[in-house]
Amino acid sequence: MLSGKSIIGIDDLKKEDIDLIINSADSFIEVLDRKVKKVPTLRGNTVASLFFEPSTRTKNSFEIAAKRLSADLINFSASSSSLKKGESVIDTINTIMGIKVNLFIIRHPEAGACKLISDFTGMPIINAGDGAHEHPTQALLDLYTIKRNFKKIEGLKVAIVGDIINSRVARSNVKLFKKMGIETTLVSPTMLLPENNEYMGLEIKNSISEVIDKVDVLYMLRMQLERQDRKMYPSIEEYNKFLSLNTSRFFCLKKGCIVMHPGPVNRGIEISEELMDLADKNGEVAKKFKIKQQVTNGVAVRMALLYLILS
Ligand code: CP
Repeated sequence: MLSGKSIIGIDDLKKEDIDLIINSADSFIEVLDRKVKKVPTLRGNTVASLFFEPSTRTKNSFEIAAKRLSADLINFSASSSSLKKGESVIDTINTIMGIKVNLFIIRHPEAGACKLISDFTGMPIINAGDGAHEHPTQALLDLYTIKRNFKKIEGLKVAIVGDIINSRVARSNVKLFKKMGIETTLVSPTMLLPENNEYMGLEIKNSISEVIDKVDVLYMLRMQLERQDRKMYPSIEEYNKFLSLNTSRFFCLKKGCIVMHPGPVNRGIEISEELMDLADKNGEVAKKFKIKQQVTNGVAVRMALLYLILS
């Protein structure tokens, strides 16, 4: 059992919870390789997946995770709902509670929305990303991916590169990595870092070149173009010069280093077009790129979360 029934942020998880999630994901990853990829574990449960913001990976991953566990699923998309006719979010949630669901999965563009809905409903809630606040299930699948690629995770060195200020993924990963004894360096110019002391104590570098040959995991963040209400960085050329992973930098990576990205990749910004094309082919580049493995692992981790909360 997990210590809480909701996962709004990484602070909701104790070290024992994280170990339990990772160990359970290990059992479920095996189900995904079976000919019949389904178990009856959550038969009779209903999961409501409410996405008020676009998503490819998280939405489909939760959907297939629920189906693999035989749960019934309500797949709500804001763009085709009565929100368009003026219904409020709270009235929408109330309506779906009337259908008698067991758990909400919620993505919302506003930071704090999941906590608000959790307080209002008292229901189990999994945060699938709320504004620039947190994306805890992404962090858990990232940790699981790291665990599957290294014998020991304690003491590993991770660099998180890019648009830190707007990134809920960075926020959740920094907290989770700290709990697990992973050393994190942030690579970002001052203008893409929060002005408060949220990341005090972490090593900060301004250029990817300073960490490229030193880290075990190079975690490239997506440039959050949709969250930049002011011009945060002078130009793409400038971004490429200091923050992007390109082919020549790739070949400076430490032996055994893996490259991760939460997706979707802005080709030509975080990672060059040329390197992305190389990563689609077999060989040395593909071996280090774990972006597809992150997606696969995400299903197992989300199956583990649904199972541990509902069963
Ligand atoms: N990583 C992630 O959250 O991607 P989506 O926006 O496609 O769900």
